Amino acid sequence: MDHFDYLDGAMHVEQVPMAAIADAVGTPVYVYSTATLTRHVGVFRDALSALDNPLIAFAVKANPNAAVLATLAKLGLGADVVSGGELLRAIAAGIPADRIVFSGVGKTADEMRLALEHGIFQFNLESEPEAEMLSDVALSMGKRAPVAYRINPDVDAGTHAKISTGKSENKFGIPYDRALDSYAAARDLPGLDVQGVAVHIGSQLTDLAPLEAAFVKVGALIGKLREAGHDIRTADLGGGLGVPYDPSKPVPPSPADYGAMVTEVTQGWNVRLMFEPGRVIVGNAGALLSRVVRVKQGAQAPFVIVDAAMNDLLRPSLYDAWHDIRAVQPAGSRGAANVVGPVCETGDTFAMHRDMDVVQADDLVAFMTAGAYGATMASTYNSRALTPEVLVSGDKWAVVRARPPIETLIAGDSIPDWVRD
Ligand code: LLP
Repeated sequence: MDHFDYLDGAMHVEQVPMAAIADAVGTPVYVYSTATLTRHVGVFRDALSALDNPLIAFAVKANPNAAVLATLAKLGLGADVVSGGELLRAIAAGIPADRIVFSGVGKTADEMRLALEHGIFQFNLESEPEAEMLSDVALSMGKRAPVAYRINPDVDAGTHAKISTGKSENKFGIPYDRALDSYAAARDLPGLDVQGVAVHIGSQLTDLAPLEAAFVKVGALIGKLREAGHDIRTADLGGGLGVPYDPSKPVPPSPADYGAMVTEVTQGWNVRLMFEPGRVIVGNAGALLSRVVRVKQGAQAPFVIVDAAMNDLLRPSLYDAWHDIRAVQPAGSRGAANVVGPVCETGDTFAMHRDMDVVQADDLVAFMTAGAYGATMASTYNSRALTPEVLVSGDKWAVVRARPPIETLIAGDSIPDWVRD
């Protein structure tokens, strides 16, 4: 459920007309709803209410905007970060270091040092060489790093290949079959305090079965690790729960179904459970608002050329992702259209032969469910300014990232004298 609703024939976000934001800020612009964020945190937390003090660490990569993170921090969430930049953003937004977990296959020594200085809750290690490096860095600082190994359970998440992470051929985690050896080696590293196990098999999962299969493997491993004398106190079950994008498709499992499954599978584990949800918290809380530049005749259907492009919302180009496209002020009729951006690539296509509200030049359209992996994946390709962002709460709204003037982009480059001469 979200808070983008039609009132008197015009889409509002909470109590604010989308058109008012477009008029004031210009388009394209991302618009986020605080009420939706708050609702999703509540729903996710309620789903886990049978667990003892779970750590819900929001996957910052899904939406790293400072105002979004600060909203989630106020609601008590921690953060799952994958770079020094995300770590600093999370801390700047008020997320306490003891609720931060650091994931990713390529952490550098500098990033490890930064995270150790701040005293984060856990590093999720993804290889033995990484464990050795972290141990050395921690020792050089007179510290011990709290760690888990991310296990690659070799489970097919059944999602898009580019966002599947739990198959043995993927780059993530340590092979399940080698886990006992890897843990034994980590125990001998004096800069590490081995406290847990982690898993994350992919994103936009629409079936609980692969998650359950992965969690069952984690449970079995915890038993074996304890038999081998490891003191396992945490289990990080990652993120991945899908959200509805296409109303004509079956609805993905709800957080309540997910929570019930987790509660059942993890019975008797006797660990602090950790979660890294991203999309399920912010996905439906955001829309990309765009204006139709012009409509051009096409061979089979008209091309609706909007002022948003693949650089603003990459998901359709990169993963053939489907986003609902709605007129902000629908005229009443529907028809087939191809919705495209102005970037000079055929891949700059949001939808082909889409049955949607008929729109014309200057109309506003909203790309729904764009709060996760939207603005954060934006680029300046075709020398387009980075997309601004707006946060709404009730009848209040604020620009939480301004559209940078294009001069800033140009001024970022420099021309050496030997090129000028
Ligand atoms: N934890 C780890 C270690 C992850 O790699 C991810 C996502 C998450 C948690 C959060 O997953 P979520 O709950 O959001 O599914 N750009 C793609 C999604 C990439 C996800 C990468 N990892 C997209 O637009 O669909």
